[in-house]
Amino acid sequence: MAYAAGVDVGSTQTKAIVIDENRKIVGRALIDTGANVVQAAENAFEKALENAGIREEEMEYIIGTGYGRYRVTFGNTQVTEISCHARGAVEMFPGTRTVVDMGGQDTKAIRVNETGEVIDFCMNDKCAAGTGRFLGAAAVALDIPLGDLGATALRHQRMVRISTTCTVFAESEVLSWLGKGKKIEDILWGVHYSIASRSAGLLRRVGVESEVTFTGGVTRNIAMIKALEERLGMKLNVSDESHYIGALGAALFALDHILASRAPRPEATETKP
Ligand SMILES: Nc1ncnc2c1ncn2[C@@H]1O[C@H](COP(=O)(O)OP(=O)(O)OP(=O)(O)O)[C@@H](O)[C@H]1O
Ligand SMILES: [Mg+2]
Repeated sequence: MAYAAGVDVGSTQTKAIVIDENRKIVGRALIDTGANVVQAAENAFEKALENAGIREEEMEYIIGTGYGRYRVTFGNTQVTEISCHARGAVEMFPGTRTVVDMGGQDTKAIRVNETGEVIDFCMNDKCAAGTGRFLGAAAVALDIPLGDLGATALRHQRMVRISTTCTVFAESEVLSWLGKGKKIEDILWGVHYSIASRSAGLLRRVGVESEVTFTGGVTRNIAMIKALEERLGMKLNVSDESHYIGALGAALFALDHILASRAPRPEATETKP
């Protein structure tokens, strides 16, 4: 059995996926990227191998993706995260035509065809507004663990509208609403809603075609799924594995390479005189 791996070194978290030649996920790992990007890539890969119960020698091809893809020093090649999220999303949800990836640093909107090829994409650049970092700043300001943000926001009764779009100012706006006696859950829902509104705008720039698949770490936040569904007026494809979709796409490109290198060379055809 041949194995392929994808290592998605994101600005915030590093994900690794191991698949077998039947495209089945057999191992996965997720760690914080931290300051040592090369080390993060190695650690995630080793953990995924361990999780799959296979030895490094059994790994035939490895592709790095994400902002740190060139730091996957043990990888065979690199593919952009846009292509990997597109490919992984269509693999997991074959009806996918639009992808929204919310990570730690930025949000990306991608339109894909039925084979997972990228038709168009758009991202919020320069500024971390509209992303996990914005949520992280709100979590710090409200002293709530990141993992509890979504459930807390869902307990809202009314929404406190958040006007800032800048992560740097998010904390002070959140604190000022708290000071005015607003409830934590109402403020938090406002934070989610504001991010969802901006992400929906980004999606409309590439064109929202059903089905829409949500990828990246922010898929773990139940309130963001809800807010985005509300802003788009449609259900999103999300699974427990959505955080790994970029790494899965990279692993699939790696498997393509393995299978292509095995394909028999076309026989030299004899030409009749
Ligand atoms: N358990 C969780 N609950 C809520 N949010 C989470 C959870 N785990 C991760 N996140 C969110 O996911 C973000 C990281 O997502 P992801 O791993 O997709 O980012 P990344 O790929 O490192 O970033 P980028 O693609 O922007 O470079 C964190 O910033 C956080 O907001
Ligand atoms: Mg990412």
